[in-house]
Amino acid sequence: MKRHFRVWRGDESGGEIQDFQVEVNDGEVVLDIIHRLQATETPDLACRWNCKAGKCGSCSMEINGKPRLGCMTRMSTFEENETVTITPLRTFPVIRDLVTDVSFNYEKARETPAFAPPPGVRPGDYRMKQIDVERSQEFRKCIECFLCQNTCHVVRDHEENKKAFSGPRYFIRAAELDMHPLDDRTDRKEYAQASQGLGYCNITKCCTEVCPEHIKITDNAIIPMKERVVDRRYDPLVWLGRKIFRR
Ligand code: SF4
Ligand code: F3S
Ligand code: FES
Repeated sequence: MKRHFRVWRGDESGGEIQDFQVEVNDGEVVLDIIHRLQATETPDLACRWNCKAGKCGSCSMEINGKPRLGCMTRMSTFEENETVTITPLRTFPVIRDLVTDVSFNYEKARETPAFAPPPGVRPGDYRMKQIDVERSQEFRKCIECFLCQNTCHVVRDHEENKKAFSGPRYFIRAAELDMHPLDDRTDRKEYAQASQGLGYCNITKCCTEVCPEHIKITDNAIIPMKERVVDRRYDPLVWLGRKIFRR
């Protein structure tokens, strides 16, 4: 059966939506349709992908305005006569067609202080408890698709915030390291507040809604970090305790 597809084509200098009628078979996903277009009408259509199994995080795109993985979006999601419009991620600069330059995220990854165990701890010296492994396990499911980064309005609508705001993917990294019993380098919560722009987040939860790994980014990483930063700064008992123990 033929279906109506609209695909954005262009580069950093501009582009337009093009219309296609494409054959769709039972069980296919949006990435199959892009591959069919490449095999037929538009061999030069640029699209990043790798695993076709929802695990590499490469095929992020916007499908009918919603940030999604092309390889995990079944065509049966849409009504039979519904037009499917595919556009590149909006928050990052377009390279060509559906491929965007996501280097913003790599810069933020580089800025995040790496895991650092206390000096002198050698491999095998320390056995992590299962409970500590499980606490941060959820955050380690991240496939770095950057759909959350693309969706967050702090940078999606405000290019000027990109310098100060690391984004939800790096808040879960901060939370993960904060939960690690051997991470000794820095106070991750204070760092997130002071240097990653945690204060810009107003808990809209849009990042959580689009995460294909169903990581509860807002409830399990952002809100607990925000609460602990606030506790430290404004709880009089915590404040007094810090004063005493700092002496
Ligand atoms: Fe993708 Fe979720 Fe990781 Fe964000 S947290 S990069 S949405 S897998
Ligand atoms: Fe952005 Fe997620 Fe906060 S979408 S505003 S980081 S809750
Ligand atoms: Fe790997 Fe879609 S191709 S996540």
